[in-house]
Formats: sequence, C-alpha cells, structure tokens
Amino acid sequence: MAKEKTLYTCTECGATSPRWLGKCPGCGAWNTLIEALAEPAAAGRNRLSAAVPGQYAGLAQAQPVVPLAAIEAADVARTATGMDELDRVLGGGVVEGGVVLIGGDPGIGKSTLLLQALDALQRLGLPTLYVTGEESGAQVALRSRRLGIEGSQVQVLAEIGLEKILATVDAVQPAIVVIDSIQTVYSDQLTSAPGSVAQVRECAAHLTRLAKATGIAVVLVGHVTKEGALAGPRVLEHMVDTVLYFEGDTHSSFRLVRAIKNRFGAVNEIGVFAMTERGLRGVANPSAIFLSQHSEPVPGSCVLVTLEGSRPLLVEIQALVDGGGISPRRLSVGLERDRLAMLLAVLHRHAGVACADQDVFVNAVGGVRISEPAADLAVMLAITSSLRARALPKGFIAFGEVGLAGEVRPAPRGQERLKEAAKLGFMVAVVPKANAPRKPIAGLAIHAVERVEEAMDVVRG
Ligand code: TYD
Ligand code: MG
Repeated sequence: MAKEKTLYTCTECGATSPRWLGKCPGCGAWNTLIEALAEPAAAGRNRLSAAVPGQYAGLAQAQPVVPLAAIEAADVARTATGMDELDRVLGGGVVEGGVVLIGGDPGIGKSTLLLQALDALQRLGLPTLYVTGEESGAQVALRSRRLGIEGSQVQVLAEIGLEKILATVDAVQPAIVVIDSIQTVYSDQLTSAPGSVAQVRECAAHLTRLAKATGIAVVLVGHVTKEGALAGPRVLEHMVDTVLYFEGDTHSSFRLVRAIKNRFGAVNEIGVFAMTERGLRGVANPSAIFLSQHSEPVPGSCVLVTLEGSRPLLVEIQALVDGGGISPRRLSVGLERDRLAMLLAVLHRHAGVACADQDVFVNAVGGVRISEPAADLAVMLAITSSLRARALPKGFIAFGEVGLAGEVRPAPRGQERLKEAAKLGFMVAVVPKANAPRKPIAGLAIHAVERVEEAMDVVRG
C-alpha cells in the first residue's frame, strides 16, 4: 500500500509544513510541530474564505434543521459490569459506543482492573476483546490465573499494529475492546515511532471513530508522565467521552479511580479499590481508609473530611515545619503547591503564624489527591500544629475554604461531612460558621468559625 501523505502541524497555531521544523513558521513557537496524516484535497475545491451569500450553493445540499424541542432525547445504552466501584465512576456502566481513557502510574492496577471488568462483562454474555501491546498472551494468562479467571472466554490479541487491530475488531465484533496501551499502538501510515504524539493521536482518533461508527465500547489505557499527566497530546482527553485516573500509593493497597471527565456521568466521582492477592476488590465503605493510626495525637497532623465524589472521605493531612535557611522549601504531596504558598501567606497575615524562614512539607496520607479548597483549614491547622509542636485535640477534624482576606467559607454538604465524622468516633470539629448544624450532632463538639484567626485560637489551648 502506498504511504499516505503526511504533514507537520503546529499544536499551538495549526500552521502546517511539509517538513519537520524546530520552529513553527506560523507562530514562532519551538518544538510544536507534530506529524499527522494530510487530508486529501478535494478536487476543484475552492478556499472558503469571506462569507459571500450563496457561496456554498452547488458545493453541498442544505440540510433540514429541527428545533431542539422536537428532538427526542435518547438515553445511552449502558451495561453495568457488576463491579460496583467501577460502575460508579463510569456513571452506571459501560456505554455503547463510548470511549474511555484510563491513566495511572505503572503497576497501579490498570491492566488488572480492565481484565477483571472484561471477564465480568463476558460472564454477562457480551463478547469482549483485550488487545495487549505490553505483555504477551502468556503473561496475560498468568495474570488471569492470579485473578482466578483462567477459564475466561475473554478474547486476547497481542498486537500493536493499528490496521491489524482494526481488522480483528471487525472480524471478532466484540461489544467492548480494551487497548492496553494506546502508547504501544502504531499506524503504518505514519513514519514516526510508536508512542510519539502523532501516532498516539492518530491511533486514538481511528479507534474513537470505530466506536462511534459501530457502537463498540472502547477503553484506552494511557501512560502518565513523571509529572502525573497523561502522556501524549492533550487532544486525547478531548477526543474521548470519559477520562479516568488511577490514584494511590503503590505501596499501600488502596487505589482510587477518579473520573476527570465524563460525558455520561458525574465528574470527580471516585471508585475505591483494594489490591489483594486476587486482584482489585471494591471498597464499599471507604470513609476511614486514609487515616493513619496514631494511638495518641501527634503534632502536625489534622484530619480533613473531604467530599471527593459523592461520599465523604476522611483523610489525614500531615505537615512538617522545620528550620529552613536562606531559601526555605515548600513541598506538597497530594495538594496543590500554589495553594500551599497562598495559605502560608494568609496564615502569616491574618493569624500571625510566620513560617517564612522554615521549610514546609505537606502530605495527604495514602496517595490521595485532594482537589477541593475545603482542605484549606485542615492544611493550615496541621502547619500551625507542627510549628508550635503541639498536637491537635484527640478526635479532631476540620474542613473549610479560606480566602485571601482570612475569611472561612462554607464547604458544600457540610452536614453530611460532620455526620460521617461523628459516625467514625470523631469528637471535635472546626468548621465554617455557615456549616454549623442547627441541631447538635451527638458526640461531636463543634467550633464554628468565620475567620482563620478564630480557628487558630480554638486550638491554641
Ligand atoms: P497492573 O495491573 O499490571 O498495573 P498497570 O497495568 O497499571 O501497570 O498491576 C500490577 C500490580 O498489581 C503488580 O505490582 C502486582 C499487583 N497485583 C496484585 O497485588 N494482585 C493481583 O492479583 C494482581 C493481578 C496484581
Ligand atoms: Mg499494564
């Protein structure tokens, strides 16, 4: 087959060049040209530039339009896998013709989860195909033995050529196909290496088109870069319907799967799993799994009640404030570093807690990533506790967003958070005034605060 023509396109401005160039001829940006298939030019097509009435006449037939009200909303057809935590993040199950991208660190459990999901779907009578580019069929079989599903009818294809994969999908006609991983797949039509931006984009585009045209659900496994972002072009996230991320510390057994984007369900919903000897098991009641067990309270630790997804989770925030030097370090794991810098400034200005000459380290226990601002108060309390070398009271929790003016803003669904904490035996809470419950919650003493200095005073003793 003759190679199709390729073009180099700037990811910034869209300018094209027939050759690769270091600097974009259009916008002058460096290293932004990527290889892509050139669209064959339609014969005799004019450039459509200025809008001239009637200029499209003769080029194409006008299509009938309908008012929105006249269109019937079709519900998407979805199949629950029966793995409750996975169904939860997917918004109820696998959607016909839906494309899911799932990312995460190596060894976190992507292949394990997907093999289990395929087996569950196959048991429901759906034909399934698992395409592996990273492991041999024998390795997949070994994993399946570990998972106790060695008798499974999941079809396996060890292949990395896109054209061969597409032909096989056409022949096998599965209801769902998993591509593990998209970075290993390559198309003959491009000269660049597998894993390059152009290859990943082109292959993902082909597979997305396949899903939309046939109704086959497609799951793409994506690698992440050292910074934790999905490797490959950002457009990958735009192309697909759902983006899931695996989070968690590979050293602990708990794993979170978070929906970053979902056209068929809620975003920021999370599924919680535990990695066991026999694969991933859903954790139905995960609220207390991210607490480390201190028999007595220690300085620099504050428990946060966060609402990641639809369920409250209790997460321990740890801080260490220690003598720095001329250029003290600020480091955070699981929390945004810019937000940390802001909180330190607010602490200094409004509560008189100065850490300017100290190193400040902050960590969310268990490898969870906290994205909601309601963590602010807990982070500030942990920092203050470490600086003063004084532990917070036993059974203490906090949540609330803090503004630049030192005000403490309410967090969504405060009552639910407080009830969960009380249920787990927590006894003291510092919360935003607007989140204070009208009726007392049994066993929980509540300090409702409006300003950050009030919060720091509560724990001064
Ligand atoms: P894997 O699914 O291969 O990760 P990824 O595809 O994201 O790279 O996960 C492999 C890890 O999980 C590996 O360290 C072994 C562990 N594991 C278990 O603990 N129990 C099991 O039953 C399986 C299959 C794997
Ligand atoms: Mg894998």
